[in-house]
Amino acid sequence: MNNKSTIFVANWKMHMPFAHALQFCTDNSKELNAVSKQATIILCPSYEALCPVGIVLGNDTTINLGAQNCSAHIPGAYTGQVSAQSLAELGCRFCIIGHSEARTHLHETNTEIAQKMEQLLINGIIPIVCIGETEKEYKDGTTFTVLTEQLEMIFALASNPALRPPMLLIAYEPVWAIGSGSIPTREYLHKVYARLAQLCAEKLPHVDCKLLYGGSVNENTIAEIKPISEVDGYLIGGASLDFQKFKKIVSLGNK
Ligand code: PGA
Repeated sequence: MNNKSTIFVANWKMHMPFAHALQFCTDNSKELNAVSKQATIILCPSYEALCPVGIVLGNDTTINLGAQNCSAHIPGAYTGQVSAQSLAELGCRFCIIGHSEARTHLHETNTEIAQKMEQLLINGIIPIVCIGETEKEYKDGTTFTVLTEQLEMIFALASNPALRPPMLLIAYEPVWAIGSGSIPTREYLHKVYARLAQLCAEKLPHVDCKLLYGGSVNENTIAEIKPISEVDGYLIGGASLDFQKFKKIVSLGNK
């Protein structure tokens, strides 16, 4: 991965059933590989599709595989969970943790998310840590308090010399923007990213922190986000399910 290239994470969530995910990659493998020469592409299919997607993309691919979550535990008696060790063994270089859908539906706490991060770091996987305020928190003006709380344990782990990751991806996703079609104003985003960049510089001076934006990124909204200099890339949900849209976003958003 070129350190300077713009990062595009395709978070397919549970939208694509297994056969669909494979078809997507088979149909577009040539173009996907071509796109990944211009930017850093991280594809995040469901667990069961990770290995076959990797095979379809081929040995020489520059596309990165990412998981959408992982267990907070080492391998053991945890029915239904997937360990970071397994993810590493099947070639995942990245893993999303702390997504608002996991915080909401799986009741994941900041402590559990930090345990997941520890497992990822032990196994050499780069975490994509999602943070973001709810609509109520946004309206109450408590965004920075929420983001700082969500990052506290993440920063503590990442600054531990025994675990220190070569790189950390932090995806700011205002919960109220996810899947809504609308994004925050440029002024608001400027403030949030300035603060996040300052926090990363203060707390993790030795870690290469990349800041991503997520929440209704599409071919229309990307022009609003691109000028924010601290944004190193994007976490794309709905619009990553259509390859032509995804390709367009990469060409428009690439810095
Ligand atoms: P969206 O999802 O692009 O569909 O809003 C982004 C995400 O939840 O990661």
